[in-house]
Amino acid sequence: MKGLILAGGAGTRLYPVTSAVSKQMLPIYDKPMLYYPLATLMQAGIREILIISTSEDLPRFTKMLGDGSAFGIRLSYLEQPSPDGLAQAFLLGEDFIEDDSCALILGDNIFCGKDLKTRTQEAGENAEKGIATLFCRSVSDPERFGIAVIDENGKVVSLEEKPAHPQSHYAVTGLYFYPAGVAEKAKKVKPSERGELEITSLNEFYMQEQQLSVQLLDEGFEWFDTGTFESLYEASGYIRNRQQSQHTEIAALEAIAYQNGWISKKQLLEAAKQYRDSSYGKYLKRIAESVRQYE
Ligand code: TTP
Repeated sequence: MKGLILAGGAGTRLYPVTSAVSKQMLPIYDKPMLYYPLATLMQAGIREILIISTSEDLPRFTKMLGDGSAFGIRLSYLEQPSPDGLAQAFLLGEDFIEDDSCALILGDNIFCGKDLKTRTQEAGENAEKGIATLFCRSVSDPERFGIAVIDENGKVVSLEEKPAHPQSHYAVTGLYFYPAGVAEKAKKVKPSERGELEITSLNEFYMQEQQLSVQLLDEGFEWFDTGTFESLYEASGYIRNRQQSQHTEIAALEAIAYQNGWISKKQLLEAAKQYRDSSYGKYLKRIAESVRQYE
């Protein structure tokens, strides 16, 4: 299975902060925002990942993450010339995806929850069987999101983009799993009134073919769409509290790679040294000294 991270956009709601810096480079407490969606894909077991962004921001992402070997994964980078919609990721990424199934995560979406790993792996298995998966979360302001109406059997019966009168409080979050052939389907999506290739239209194709399942992120889950100053602040506070109360680091990429058996203890210790006295570096050192070896 392949993974795409869509990390372009203009970030206009975060002006003037984003006038010269990518939104996805901003800190969520003690790590760049992009670390969190990347960690989510890695926890799902995905090792081949394409980061799609603007021509200005790609060099910075490349400098920050390199070819991915530090995390035991393979990273590639591709430009999105203009932000023409989420479904465009599959058109741009067609050659990268080849005949594989594929997950897409938005660069400003942060997921935390104890069985997220199991759930994303389940979505990956479903994708191998030809079924797409959406991750939905109950919200108090559904009119701001793409919404899924779900029946009593947990089936998606309709999808609506930012409805004025929402029929459901389940927002479709920025994490999607699709079977092989998603690029072909994405080619059939027509631009919406606002001129974007909407992911909702792509999801509707799967819904009409009865090939769409949903994972509900309720109890024990947090989801942040960190596109505004309020949500940025809220997400940072949440990560800080969780890390401090549980003596952990969320989205520590090298630690996830080590726990997945993708990098050696030696590599983990080298990374720890590189991050010096930061809490991140200290955490990597602690993991290297406490978790069983995978060499
Ligand atoms: P948005 O928050 O919808 O857009 P934005 O990041 O440009 O912000 P603003 O509305 O404040 O101007 O995008 C959600 C995520 O998806 C974000 O990480 C950027 C990314 N994105 C792309 O990379 N390409 C696109 O074509 C779109 C629509 C979004």
